[in-house]
Amino acid sequence: MVIKIKNHHPQRFLVPGADGKMHIVASSAPKLRFAPRTPKQEAAVAAPAEPMAQVQQTRVARKVSRDTPPNIPFLRFESIAGRGGMAVVWRAWHRELNRPVAVKVLDPKFSNTEQDVRQFMMEVRTMSNMHHQGIVQGYGADIADGRYYFIMDYVDGYTFGSLLLRKSHIPESDVLIVGESVADAMKYAWDTFGVVHCDLKPENIMVDRDGTIKVTDLGLCQSTAVIQNKEQPSEVVGSPAYISPEQIYGDVELDCRADIYCLGATLYHMATGRILFPLLDNDAILRAHVNEKIQAPDPRFVIPSLTEGFARLVANMCVKNRDYRYQTWDEVFNDARMVEEGGLPTLHASEAVSSIQFQLALGI
Ligand SMILES: Nc1ncnc2c1ncn2[C@@H]1O[C@H](COP(=O)(O)OP(=O)(O)O)[C@@H](O)[C@H]1O
Ligand SMILES: [Mg+2]
Repeated sequence: MVIKIKNHHPQRFLVPGADGKMHIVASSAPKLRFAPRTPKQEAAVAAPAEPMAQVQQTRVARKVSRDTPPNIPFLRFESIAGRGGMAVVWRAWHRELNRPVAVKVLDPKFSNTEQDVRQFMMEVRTMSNMHHQGIVQGYGADIADGRYYFIMDYVDGYTFGSLLLRKSHIPESDVLIVGESVADAMKYAWDTFGVVHCDLKPENIMVDRDGTIKVTDLGLCQSTAVIQNKEQPSEVVGSPAYISPEQIYGDVELDCRADIYCLGATLYHMATGRILFPLLDNDAILRAHVNEKIQAPDPRFVIPSLTEGFARLVANMCVKNRDYRYQTWDEVFNDARMVEEGGLPTLHASEAVSSIQFQLALGI
């Protein structure tokens, strides 16, 4: 059965239940209560924010640390919501909007060059221009105390990265919902704005209190306008565990197929609890992504109860040669939906699911 993504507004949500498991609920159904936080999370959230007076005193005494929020009069910083490689994200109270917001404060070492600032502004513009329930909404940016910051909707939930730290893996039915939701959101980003996220991974996909799945962190995103700018130096951007071969080679214009590969690697990690190529160092992982002899392993090698349909979906998303990968987000969405309904997507390439090749290449 072919389902048109165009009319799709995700009607099902992934909601963490009180039993610690994720549950699928229909949007019309009463929303389940948000799962209680673990004691460690509770302690982190309950930690009192550093009072502003103290912040200002300490700023005189020591160099501004990553964990000190900038002084922005209309914001009251409350707690750290999360950290990434380039920024600290704060939960803050917006005095004018009278509601909490998330404030991404860029690490000063990532705002040294014109290129850094241009990329940051690209993230700000992209997240502010896009209006989709599957993408965190941005509002604008400025500079305070010499640091760039960016205000966006606060997602009262968690990332799948943190969920994977607590659970060994996530049930297939839930992973498929993540796949469909992200495919829907990224289809909007690609079709409407020509935007490639470039860094889809569990840490950049969040689930909100009501179970809505939201993509965040467009800090490495590229748009077709920029990609086609020949002056732009091509450099490896992305996270080693999930990056597509063409991002590693850096020799072609990126398109939505790069994100499809990243999402495939992400879904594999979510469903198995292991990254696609669990090798010792980043260089080895990058080599495995581009080595035609090391195909994406069959996830059933790790979790035998996963369906063949799911294994095919991931295999099709993680084909190394993008010409044999899914070509559009519609294809990803439709096949994920088909797998959810017990169907079996057609395998795309001769690069079939091959855990045996993978094991041979790794010498195991
Ligand atoms: N809108 C948001 N609401 C709540 N927490 C967020 C939000 N955006 C990001 N975070 C948290 O902050 C972390 C780092 O944010 P991210 O934008 O990914 O920064 P980086 O570019 O440094 O990776 C995320 O992994 C998540 O835990
Ligand atoms: Mg991030």
